[in-house]
Amino acid sequence: MNKARKAVSERLKDIDVVIEMLDARLPASSANPMLAYMAKGKPRLMLLNKQDLADPNATQQWLEWYRAKKDTQALGMDAGERSPAQKLINACRELAPLRGGLDKPLRVLICGIPNVGKSTLINSMSSRKIAKTGNTPGITKNEQRIILQDDFELFDTPGMLWPKIEVPEGGYNLAASGAVGRNAMDEEEVALELLKYLLQHYTAELGARYKLDKLDGQQDWQALEMIGKKRGAMLPGGKINLQKAAELVLTDFRDGQIGRITLERPDEWLCWEKQAKEQAAIRAAEREAKLQQENKKSGRN
Ligand code: G4P
Repeated sequence: MNKARKAVSERLKDIDVVIEMLDARLPASSANPMLAYMAKGKPRLMLLNKQDLADPNATQQWLEWYRAKKDTQALGMDAGERSPAQKLINACRELAPLRGGLDKPLRVLICGIPNVGKSTLINSMSSRKIAKTGNTPGITKNEQRIILQDDFELFDTPGMLWPKIEVPEGGYNLAASGAVGRNAMDEEEVALELLKYLLQHYTAELGARYKLDKLDGQQDWQALEMIGKKRGAMLPGGKINLQKAAELVLTDFRDGQIGRITLERPDEWLCWEKQAKEQAAIRAAEREAKLQQENKKSGRN
């Protein structure tokens, strides 16, 4: 068990509500299935952060999707929220009505993948006292305890586990959002996947941003070339600098310059997940067949 996972599972023992911060532009891709597994049975608050960058209709779909799950509440959030602490406290108290009062304070754990906006949120709520915990065995030294009210404690265990990427579209969405380091991705490939989705769902926004009026029916690579050309991303000899064009599209998306965009809907996610499972089953069957063949060859059977 790695260190972060151990710290989270230790802390979970006396936690009443788990808050998982998600990126509202890619809620499912930014979720951590391992956390869902470890926190099984605990009430959960899904916080769809950066909603200022996400498509409001899609955010509504996701909120309803999460709210339909057992013991789960969901809220939209962003750094512009006036009283984030109160919003969060109210939702958690609803989820754990039997906790509260100094003798049984409500204890809440907040988790989220890097770049989801956790530090920003915690800093904005921290006019109240922040205490380092960490004398508990198994709990990381850098864990923070934020007293949001006298009987409301928020625990932040840093170094949250990175989710295993099982759905390829989820990996591309994480990369497009900026959650994945530059060295760990091929920007051109990520930009092409992003453009494929934007051409399906946000053609008007894409056209308006890059002043392109002939996007209908275009392929992702054609759109990338058109953007490169329009923005003067050229190489000597008149070739388009696709790397530069890709960087441009990704930066614009991350900064919200193309518009308020969400890269997945609940029904799409279920479909991608199903495909990923089918692909994984095919790969497992192929591996098994290969193994059997090798065993046969070596006479082991
Ligand atoms: P983390 O602790 O989860 O890793 O994330 P952090 O708070 O450091 O936020 C990551 C980036 O996301 C920061 O931008 C931050 O400003 C931005 N951010 C956080 N919450 C929101 C939000 O609700 N809406 C928007 N639009 N952005 C948000 P950065 O470019 O890395 O740093 P900086 O520009 O703040 O210096």
